[in-house]
Amino acid sequence: MKRRLLFLLLVGMLLPPIVPAVLDNTQPESSQQAACRGILLFGGTGRLGASIARLLASAGEPVTVFRRSSSPQDRLDGLNVRYVVGDLADERSISAAFDAQPFCAAIDASAQRGASNSVQHFYENAARWIVQNAKRTGVRQFILHGSIGAGDNRDEVPALRDAPASDRLIDKGRAEQAVIAGGVPYTIIRHGLVPYDPQPPATGRAYLTPDLTTWGEITRDDLAILTLDVLGNPARFNRIYHAIDPQLRLRRDAGTDLPRSIGGPSTDERKAGATAVRGARDSDAKSEPAHSDTQTTTDQPDPGQP
Ligand SMILES: NC(=O)c1ccc[n+]([C@@H]2O[C@H](COP(=O)([O-])OP(=O)(O)OC[C@H]3O[C@@H](n4cnc5c(N)ncnc54)[C@H](OP(=O)(O)O)[C@@H]3O)[C@@H](O)[C@H]2O)c1
Repeated sequence: MKRRLLFLLLVGMLLPPIVPAVLDNTQPESSQQAACRGILLFGGTGRLGASIARLLASAGEPVTVFRRSSSPQDRLDGLNVRYVVGDLADERSISAAFDAQPFCAAIDASAQRGASNSVQHFYENAARWIVQNAKRTGVRQFILHGSIGAGDNRDEVPALRDAPASDRLIDKGRAEQAVIAGGVPYTIIRHGLVPYDPQPPATGRAYLTPDLTTWGEITRDDLAILTLDVLGNPARFNRIYHAIDPQLRLRRDAGTDLPRSIGGPSTDERKAGATAVRGARDSDAKSEPAHSDTQTTTDQPDPGQP
């Protein structure tokens, strides 16, 4: 038995690494797809997006970050990434980004922030435009980072039963529908609660589950790892997953399975300095909580805020 294990280990060490199909631009399907190269990353200047960009870059994968002209690039400092400038609320700039080169995959880790907060149907339109252009240019996989509770999923998650309905989650549900109908192999990764800044490192415990009733916390670095796990993996094509780290308890009310709300920090947390996520309103941009490792939020604007 031991010998067999040793043999398998040795064989494993001698074999070349398995390159995910989506990253392997030598696989001919059509002439356009055969020439694909790299990943187009939306939201790459953000917290989750930058973490994904770092992992992709360290894997040697060419990354092109779609950013706004106003996007701070400090999270990507020192990384070998290319940029295309555009706005997710502007279809033409999305189309132009896909024309920059034939990409193998596209990843959307964006979140409606800042000037986009007032844009109606932000997620639905952005997802539709991304997928239309991904299809047009032969992209092989689209990975969408979404939210637990999006669309009809709110009724599936017992923990969200008493949470207030949210336009943003309805919009995210429609975005998912646009992706599913879009004709590009997709993977939707939904998450529930992610930490405020400063971001804690990956725990390595998080996983994707097809059980769409689950709700939980997860770090952005773990989400980035899971993103690379599904990238180029046909077993993950055309699937929706919830990403959770069931042992992560950064919330003050950890221990209860029920989220207090899906609307942002509680009154007590706000008194302690917690704010809604960056850009949820302009005055919050510089005021991330000082001891924020105990606080988490969902991707919702705080209902108590203007
Ligand atoms: N935050 C949460 O609590 C939470 C919870 C559940 C799910 N999620 C999901 O997790 C993902 C990432 O969240 P995050 O908190 O890590 O994001 P984040 O740090 O707030 O970053 C958001 C990113 O989206 C970009 N973006 C926003 N509007 C844009 C526009 N109109 N055009 C182009 N780019 C635009 C931002 O660009 P700028 O740099 O220009 O601002 C930034 O790169 C999203 O899918 C989000 O919905 C988040």
